[in-house]
Parts: sequence; structure tokens; C-alpha cells
Amino acid sequence: MESLVIDGGNRLRGGIRVQGAKNGALPVLAASVLGGRSVIHNCPRLTDTESSLEILRMLGCGAERDGEAVTVDASRVPRCDIPPELMRRMRSSVIFLGAVLARCGRAVVSAPGGCELGPRPIDMHLEAMRLLGADITESRGLVFCECAGRLKGAEIVLPYPSVGATENAMIAASTARGRTVIVGAAKEPEITELADFINSKGGSVSGAGSDVLLIDGVEALGDCEHVCIPDRIAAATYIAAAAATGSEITLYGVQPRHLTAVTDVFARAGCRFREDGGALTVTAPERLKAVRFIRTAPYPGFPTDAQALTAAALATADGVSVLCETVFSGRFRYLRELSRMGADVGSEGQLAVIKGVPFLSGAKTACTDLRGGAALVVAALGARGRSGISAPGHIDRGYENVEAALSAAGARIYRKSEDETDHTDGIFREASGV
Ligand code: UD1
Repeated sequence: MESLVIDGGNRLRGGIRVQGAKNGALPVLAASVLGGRSVIHNCPRLTDTESSLEILRMLGCGAERDGEAVTVDASRVPRCDIPPELMRRMRSSVIFLGAVLARCGRAVVSAPGGCELGPRPIDMHLEAMRLLGADITESRGLVFCECAGRLKGAEIVLPYPSVGATENAMIAASTARGRTVIVGAAKEPEITELADFINSKGGSVSGAGSDVLLIDGVEALGDCEHVCIPDRIAAATYIAAAAATGSEITLYGVQPRHLTAVTDVFARAGCRFREDGGALTVTAPERLKAVRFIRTAPYPGFPTDAQALTAAALATADGVSVLCETVFSGRFRYLRELSRMGADVGSEGQLAVIKGVPFLSGAKTACTDLRGGAALVVAALGARGRSGISAPGHIDRGYENVEAALSAAGARIYRKSEDETDHTDGIFREASGV
């Protein structure tokens, strides 16, 4: 079985260039279906973005990658159905619904996949499409959406600021007839990025970053060039890694104001931060202090995607930390894996209690989901001895070559393929390019 092997306990140093944001790139790739030619720079090379390119090609668009840039040609979109096999690969496949419906007048999708974080319904997405004038029927696990001619602008009141439902509604409304108002919209930076992308193609979206979005539908969207924003969760991962190892590292190409909720929590744990242009240096203390209470919430609150990463760093803090997960009900599965490394952790309902222990010990663990898997990497970097983390495919959905990024900062990490016997120092040197 493939695994990441990590020899923990040594400090990180130097710098890491943070990749483009996965959660920004995925809706941008979906929205590129709306029309024209989109050149998307700084598009992270992840299994999820590559799955999006496969969906685009399957729909009949041109979709090519050249290094960090992706070009999508949506001058023709002859197909409007996404097979269940592609839908199941990631949750974000559902964001194609609004784009394909708006572009083709019909879309056929099935339940999306993605990390198992508890129930992840798509009721808000479907309701938004209905309000925009789509006729929706469900049969044999497939969702059929149709509209006669263009969608029609509407008032959409979201009962919860769902990131995905906001994106889907915004994309679908961008070529609808008339004005759409989305009330209770999500405010994540990736929503603003998507609005910027649609506007650069000739659309008219305003209010992004607030909880009311106004979208004046235009007849068609054209060509654009777009640069993906930095990935704030990848940045949070490297901050957590520095915190877990008592290190100082510099993150390049980040947007510090997107990270305020995360840096506030790590500052409470004793880390210091220094900003210099697009660079953010984190200096961690020898041992972190516990953080009494952290509650996840929609942006600008503390991101649910950074919850497991933070727990992994706080596992060796001095004192007891409590995490309250309010966004997803099933997001503590990684705790069992952390306890294999000697962490004193437990959960009940929305709460996880992390009693800091003096040190963690390397162990064999398995990724439970994307961020839970990244949390195991963080813990293993700080642990004494060697860890093996199986099922790293979860991590590859969201991190561009995580072992190369961390080895460049001095981590001893490499990937062991299915049938390889255990590693050697030589392999570590090779992975880190030393
Ligand atoms: C996005 C992010 C994910 C992040 C999450 C919350 C992407 C690709 N993924 O996921 O990394 O953890 O935002 O910041 O951007 N819900 C419903 N009905 C719906 C839609 C959502 O009940 O129709 C619920 C979900 O089950 C969840 C909550 O709303 O409990 C938040 O989900 P949402 O904001 O939609 O997350 P995603 O867009 O799936």
C-alpha cells in the first residue's frame, strides 16, 4: 500500500511557496463552461483539479494544462451530462451543475463525492436552481435539471452561507435574464475570486465578500485571463507544521488577511508572525500553549478546514485545548489516528478535547480524509521517530506534491510506493533534492 514515511522531530527551516487555492480553482474551472476561452494561471496541480479538467473534456470543452497554467476553451459544450464515476471523485463536481445548466439549458448529474465529513446534502444547490427557473426531477440516483431558454434572475435566500451553493447560484445567475440577489451568501475569499473571474469574462457580480450578492445576468461570457489566489488552507497547514516542530519558516505568495482567524489562534498558542509583502514568517515557540476554545465558523471565522491541522499541532501543547466543530458533523475521525501516535484526544458531539502531551511518537496511521490526512503529516513531523501514513491519495486531492514542499523546508518525508520495502536515508536525500 502506498504511504508517506516521515522521520519526525527535526526542525523545519527556510521557505515554502504556497500553491494556488484548490477551493478557488475548482469553481473557476466549472464557471469556465459558461463560455469563451479562459486562461487560468497558478492553477494547482491536484487530483481534484485534474478531475475537473476531465469533466471539462467529457463535456466537449478544450482543457489543457501547460505547467501552472490551464486553458479552457468553452466555445462549444456539446454534452450536458456528467457520469457518476466523475461526479463521485469530489464534492466540487456539483458546482458544474449551475454552469452546465446555464450554458446548455439542461444538466444531468448524480450525487457528488468528496471527503466523508458527515451528511453533505445538495438541497440548497437544487433549490437555488429551481428559483432560477430550472425544472428538476430525480430518478435512479440521477438529477435532471432543465430550463426553457435562459434561466431567470431571482431572489435566493440561503438558510446557511453554504460555499458551494453560493458558487453554484452565482455561476448559474451570471447568464440568467435579469437580476439575481443572493441573500445570506458565503463570504469566503474564494467567492470573491469567483466573482472576479465571472466579471473578467464580462459578467456583472457585485457584493462579493458581503452576505448579499447582486448578479446582473449577461447574454454570454467571453475570454479572460485569471490568476488563482493563494491557498489559505495549504498556508495554514505549513503554519501548523512549523508550530508542531517549534520551527521558523517563511511562506511565500500568501495573502495574510485571508489567514487572520488562523494566525490569531496560533498567536494565542505562542507563535509569532511577521509580514513582509507577500511573505509571512511564522516563528513557533519550543512548546505551544494550549488554546482554551476554538470554534469553527464560516469565513471570516476559524475555517473548518484548519480544524484538524490545529488539533495536530496542539496535541503537544502545554494544557488542554477544546475545539468546537460547527460546520460539518463528522469531522473528528482523524482523532483516532492521532491517538495512535500517543495524543490524548477525545470527542463528543461537536466538541473535541485535546490534552497536550509532552511528545508524540511515530506510528502507522491512515488518512481518513483530505485535511485529516494533512493533520497526520503535521503530527508526524513533530513526533519522535518514524511514522507511516497510508492512503495519501486523500492528501493529493488538495496538496501539490506535499512531500517536495516539506522536504524543501528540511522535513524528512518521502513516499513509499505499493511494493517498496522500507526506506533508507538515501531515499530521504533524493526526495528532498539534497
Ligand atoms: C466548501 C469547501 C470545503 C470547506 C467548506 C466549508 C470547496 C471545494 N470545498 O465545501 O473545503 O470545508 O466549504 O468552508 O470549496 N449544506 C447543506 N445543504 C447544501 C449545502 C451544504 O446542508 O445544499 C451543509 C453542509 O452539509 C455543511 C454546511 O452546509 O454542513 C457547509 O457546507 P458548504 O459551505 O456547502 O461546504 P462545501 O461547499 O461543500
